[in-house]
Amino acid sequence: MPRHFVTGAAGFVGSTLVDRLLAHGHEVVGYDNLSSGREAFLEGALSNTASFRLEHADTLDACALTAAMRGSDVVWHLQANADVRHGLANPRKDLEQNTLATSNVLEAMRRNGVKDILFASSGSVYGEAMVFPTPEDAPFPVQTSLYGASKLAGEALISAYCEGYGFRGVAFRFVSMLGERYTHGHVYDFVRHLSKDPGTLRVLGDGRQRKGYLYVGDSVEAMLLAWSKMQKGFAVYNIGGEEYSTVLDSIAWISAVMGVSPELTFTGGDRGWAGDNPFIFLDAARIMALGWRPTLTIKEAVGRTVSWLLENPKVLEA
Ligand SMILES: NC(=O)c1ccc[n+]([C@@H]2O[C@H](COP(=O)([O-])OP(=O)(O)OC[C@H]3O[C@@H](n4cnc5c(N)ncnc54)[C@H](O)[C@@H]3O)[C@@H](O)[C@H]2O)c1
Repeated sequence: MPRHFVTGAAGFVGSTLVDRLLAHGHEVVGYDNLSSGREAFLEGALSNTASFRLEHADTLDACALTAAMRGSDVVWHLQANADVRHGLANPRKDLEQNTLATSNVLEAMRRNGVKDILFASSGSVYGEAMVFPTPEDAPFPVQTSLYGASKLAGEALISAYCEGYGFRGVAFRFVSMLGERYTHGHVYDFVRHLSKDPGTLRVLGDGRQRKGYLYVGDSVEAMLLAWSKMQKGFAVYNIGGEEYSTVLDSIAWISAVMGVSPELTFTGGDRGWAGDNPFIFLDAARIMALGWRPTLTIKEAVGRTVSWLLENPKVLEA
């Protein structure tokens, strides 16, 4: 059995992946500085001392990263600054936490003779797409966020290591994910606000932004499938379902689960912030051709997310 090295292991997606890998009987090393992740998300994994260990360290610490990776066979690089919205407030953050960190991961792999990397990229790399649903080979001439730009740079570095050093790489361009351990995004913001003030809700934009969303458990199954089919060179997969929903849809679903009917106010315009894309809908035919399908609808995924957040009020206090 290969030994897996997961950066960002204590995060929303990372901890879900760790649990699935351990459930399949794999050995896993998690690497995380716990800046946005939580050790509590790895409670089950940490109890499996024979197969799991967590390295509490920073990806920007190249020495610690290289040492921790020793003996691993596959790298899942999920660590990032996953916040898209506030990129312009600190332009170095995406460069350092996403692009330079990815370079560090690739160099640590080279030093350790590890050649397989699976990378959490994002549908944000398409900027404002012109084709819907957007396939992997759609043009993306204009980047609309520093986050998207930093992810695209990460993909480019990985593909160059595949060409130059014979690595095998996979980049996943995800839509927004939902589910247990979700700690950032509009559903989190809405549930947090409505828990304190169920009577009002301020919506960024006009609420008609249309976006694909996917249950995190379905995303992780797609990732594992892509890993099992990995080939020489570099591959890209869009990971998303066959539907999208509006912000207003999610407000209706969240309100129904919480039993509230807030009065809505809107900041106006067709986007919530500079760089918000009014329509994100990815064509996932490539991963579906391997046999993957989402198991939950967006409405079901929103419902699970809200229920989990209400059962874990400490997450909302953060
Ligand atoms: N959640 C989504 O909807 C979504 C969508 C598209 C892409 N992605 C990508 O998927 C990956 C996982 O996202 P997530 O939602 O789980 O985010 P997250 O913030 O929950 O997880 C990121 C993890 O990385 C850790 N981390 C951050 N900086 C670090 C550093 N310098 N050194 C070590 N650890 C560090 C954090 O503590 C956290 O545990 C990210 O790369 C993100 O960009 C997520």
